[in-house]
Amino acid sequence: MPNDHATDGCNSCPIAPATRRDFVRDSVLGIAGALATLGISRSTAALPISMIEALARRDEKITYAIPATDGVRIDKDNEVILVRWQNEVYAFNLSCPHQRTALRWNEAAKEFQCPKHKSKYTPSGSFISGRATRGMDRFAIQRQGANVIVDADEMFEEDENEAQWKAAFVKV
Ligand code: FES
Repeated sequence: MPNDHATDGCNSCPIAPATRRDFVRDSVLGIAGALATLGISRSTAALPISMIEALARRDEKITYAIPATDGVRIDKDNEVILVRWQNEVYAFNLSCPHQRTALRWNEAAKEFQCPKHKSKYTPSGSFISGRATRGMDRFAIQRQGANVIVDADEMFEEDENEAQWKAAFVKV
């Protein structure tokens, strides 16, 4: 099983599992802190990061305006990372696919990074290196006019749902 590290020491980690609320807080603060540390302003960053709110949510269907420019947008209420990158829009789960640690955006490297076991991912969520064994988990997403609809009930794991994972983006 790709993510079962019962024998490699992960389960013996002394860090207690974070609550869902702690996780969201840590993720957002981690990203914001990384930006502050790097001294990057939104105007100069090639992939600026910002916080967003959904336009609407009905059951598990979340509506966002299509971002006008490339960037990383965090919806902390719904725990979604919305990325516009090279004319494509993706919706990711906010947590690392390995052991659900809060992911952080590293603007200098243009990568998502996991602080726990150092996994790294491209802006489109593809796995680069680290303890994880798959890309960032993607939600199903479809275009509806000037908006995208993200289905929080349809999350694709690259190793389990490869075809759906690859198809989970919209062209803009
Ligand atoms: S939690 Fe292990 S690499 Fe992210």
